[in-house]
Amino acid sequence: MIILRSRAEIEKIRIACLIVAEILRRLRERIQPGITTWDLNAISEELASKRHAKPAFKGYHGYPYALCTSVNEQVVHGMPSKHCRLREGDLVSLDFGVVVDGYYGDAALTVPVGKVSNEAARLCAITEESLYEGIARAVSGNRLSDISHAIQEHVEKQGFSVVREFVGHGIGQHLHESPQIPNYGPPGKGVRLKPGMVLAIEPMINAGVPDVEILEDQWTAVTLDGKLSAHFEHTVAVTENGPDILTMQETALQDKDH
Ligand code: MF3
Ligand code: CO
Repeated sequence: MIILRSRAEIEKIRIACLIVAEILRRLRERIQPGITTWDLNAISEELASKRHAKPAFKGYHGYPYALCTSVNEQVVHGMPSKHCRLREGDLVSLDFGVVVDGYYGDAALTVPVGKVSNEAARLCAITEESLYEGIARAVSGNRLSDISHAIQEHVEKQGFSVVREFVGHGIGQHLHESPQIPNYGPPGKGVRLKPGMVLAIEPMINAGVPDVEILEDQWTAVTLDGKLSAHFEHTVAVTENGPDILTMQETALQDKDH
């Protein structure tokens, strides 16, 4: 069952989402060669506490940190470490969520560290573009898999591959709610999208093979071929007026002006 959220509930989710967006923006500003993923996690915790927001991932199924930091061939759920110092040319994916007053927000982005290879820059760009292709299909009347298909098509046209093992998800009063949102599949399948659905859409895209494996820490997913991976995520509400990207700060400011 997919919960349809009232306008008031969507505004509660937006509060969490705007904090996530702000914290990810501040983290992105701090990314430079020499910083450790441990430092990034500490910063995320400090900023969340300033906003009276509770990190959503810490303690979730035993995950020990506020932030996921996935470097290069790490796909998702990379764990912050004092020993993981970012270097020029790395790609680092930051995935962060908070809960505020019982409502969740979740977003992710991949950031280049200093100057990166053309291939790495292209992987980031195509992954982000594929997220927006998916979001553009988060429209009332469409089917769920129209989102999935748009992502897959954009990515595979560019010669990259879609990770199958992890999916996007509904979000609201839990981090993960129904439905699951694969980043691949034929169009026109699954439930019909309706105003009030709130979806975390999150393509995880590999430069090489789509296959992943989990490291011994039981969390970190890495590409099987050791090639690069990227990850972008937004929390999006389906509305009568089209997709509303709740984890986008600029959108909210514009909305307030009107
Ligand atoms: N954005 C990811 C997800 O929705 C982050 C979860 S990390 C976890 O699955 F630690 F909370 F599992
Ligand atoms: Co998510």
